[in-house]
Amino acid sequence: MSTIITVATMKGGSGKSTLASCLAVHWQLGGRRPTLIDADPQRSVARLAARERALGGVPVIEDATETASEVARRIVVGGGPVIIDTPGFRSETTTKCLAASDFVLVPVKASPFDVDRMLDTLSMLVNTGNDWHAIYRCVLTQTTRDSVVAKHIRSELAAAGFRLLESEMTNRVIYPEAALWGATPSLIESTGPAARDIAAIAAEVDNILAIKQAA
Ligand SMILES: Nc1ncnc2c1ncn2[C@@H]1O[C@H](COP(=O)(O)OP(=O)(O)O)[C@@H](O)[C@H]1O
Ligand SMILES: [Mg+2]
Repeated sequence: MSTIITVATMKGGSGKSTLASCLAVHWQLGGRRPTLIDADPQRSVARLAARERALGGVPVIEDATETASEVARRIVVGGGPVIIDTPGFRSETTTKCLAASDFVLVPVKASPFDVDRMLDTLSMLVNTGNDWHAIYRCVLTQTTRDSVVAKHIRSELAAAGFRLLESEMTNRVIYPEAALWGATPSLIESTGPAARDIAAIAAEVDNILAIKQAA
């Protein structure tokens, strides 16, 4: 299945680059030949790829210009999934990547301080205009499983009409630790809990896309 998946929020530190790189590595290990596009001028994904484990060999294309979405459309043809990491601010690059996407993942940090701004961000993302044909899902990040905060944010999002993946990216120190080596949990502890979180998120995305394609 060749698909363009964009990871976007207007908030820094919500886990975009981590989620984008973890999903790409997961699919790479499964033989799906993904490509990462780093459309953030801060170059988090490109920097990871420059470290020792080089994201397990996932190809990374750096393009923070408005042509990033065209690059994505070109390389997705006949290939594996293309995962685009975007900057944490409103930009024409992000808008165009959203328009080119089949699926948009919106990581939401499970912090009560972030909720209000995040609801605004979501409205903006989901209402990008006529071009929008993607499916989107929010995904809770840096959660403590079954915590009151995560449950509360889940229900606030649902009440505001936003759709959310069941799976969460639980807060685990293995994410920043793995990043020290340019790796992700799937590469350094493939059967550990963080790798299982990522596998569960990837499976949910695959399922939703499969249902879309069948429709
Ligand atoms: N699930 C997680 N558990 C622990 N730390 C995380 C998790 N997700 C992200 N982080 C850490 O949080 C910081 C910000 O994540 P990052 O992916 O760079 O966010 P963004 O790209 O949205 O700015 C990084 O230091 C990253 O290692
Ligand atoms: Mg980032």
